[in-house]
Amino acid sequence: MSASYSIKFSDPYPVYRKMLQETPVFQDKNGTWHLTRYDDVKMMLSDQRFSRRPSGNFGFISASKKQTALDNVISRWSLFNDPPEHTRLREMMSVMISPRFMKDLKSLIETIVDSLLASLLQQSSVNFIEAFAYPLPVNLVNQLLGSSLDYHTLRNWSLGFVNAMDRGSPDDFEAISPSVLAMQQYFEDLIRMRETNPGNDWISTLVAIRSTYHLSIDDIVSTCIFLLLAGHETVQLSLGLGLMLLLKNPEQQQLLQTNPDLVNSAVEEILRFESPLNKASRWTREKIIIDEIIIPENQLVVGLINAANHDPLKFPSPDEFNITRSNNRHLAFGYGIHNCLGALLARLELQTAFARLTPHLHRFTLIEDKIEWVANSSLRYLFNLPLTIRHL
Ligand code: HEM
Repeated sequence: MSASYSIKFSDPYPVYRKMLQETPVFQDKNGTWHLTRYDDVKMMLSDQRFSRRPSGNFGFISASKKQTALDNVISRWSLFNDPPEHTRLREMMSVMISPRFMKDLKSLIETIVDSLLASLLQQSSVNFIEAFAYPLPVNLVNQLLGSSLDYHTLRNWSLGFVNAMDRGSPDDFEAISPSVLAMQQYFEDLIRMRETNPGNDWISTLVAIRSTYHLSIDDIVSTCIFLLLAGHETVQLSLGLGLMLLLKNPEQQQLLQTNPDLVNSAVEEILRFESPLNKASRWTREKIIIDEIIIPENQLVVGLINAANHDPLKFPSPDEFNITRSNNRHLAFGYGIHNCLGALLARLELQTAFARLTPHLHRFTLIEDKIEWVANSSLRYLFNLPLTIRHL
């Protein structure tokens, strides 16, 4: 089944609704297959007939281009590997992001949140992304890794990375090589320093476990870049998307303000309603048949997470933002062997931030016509979330 849709980055949901009704499984004009239903996306994420890479070729996007610095980095990420390589890389990262380690994090997150909130509340008009959403996870992940990347450098690098990976053309991959090389050099220097002078951070842990997990210097550098990007981009997006949703739904905002213990359930609904990772992709290892539609072997298949999270067969009244929703088994953190390793950490950041923001929500007014989105189909990338803040 082939189909063509044009999607508005600010609001893809009317089109997702149409896809779910008319062509839940379809192939676009570039040959990429799309899955939209909850059950199909969940199956794609967990079924071994899907792989992270096209067969017989290097790279995850194009088999015919030359290997760039970006290919070199992402090919070492667990996310773009199948077992057994995936298992080795995931186990290695689990040493750092273990539930035991999470225990000590709550007070660190609270300290960062409180300091950002204090300065936010002194202003009368702000871009919430710049003033709160971005600095919170960046500050945290810098402290965890043991890096000290300044906000602007990181934002430039990171936006270049996520946009190149979203567009995926050989030219986009080539164009960001200077930033990738700069990032690699930055982490290589830090790793060399930790080899002689270890600290209490992820880079020192990676250096300490390198022989257990057979890690080369390139593996360690690529893992640092992965943890840095995975650890801040999605969380900053969720913070912005969540605040936007609460301010656009005043009755839900009020419900949360009068029942602050609903915060964890509100966070799950934010993650379902606007999952920051909009889609996930896989390659078919063999022919897959869904609804009598045949997807041949070695095809690129995209699972639209935000369409699946709005599937009426799974979520009653899916387009209603309802912070008391029960049985909210959304796919925002993925499913199957690649499910998000940082989900506990992300939830802790989001729950702490929204718990502290909630008493102040009635003072914020969203300037809706000034909201800006980045044109990125993989992430729900809010760039500017302008607010005015009323002083008491
Ligand atoms: C709201 C925040 C977050 C969301 C929505 C999110 C979402 C996801 C999703 C959907 C996947 C699976 C992608 C796929 O299967 O193709 C994933 C994987 C991953 N995430 Fe997250 N993530 C978040 C925060 C974090 C944080 C804070 C970290 C840690 C520093 C992290 C680390 C990872 C890692 C390491 C993987 C790869 C796991 C593997 O390949 O086995 N994530 N994330």
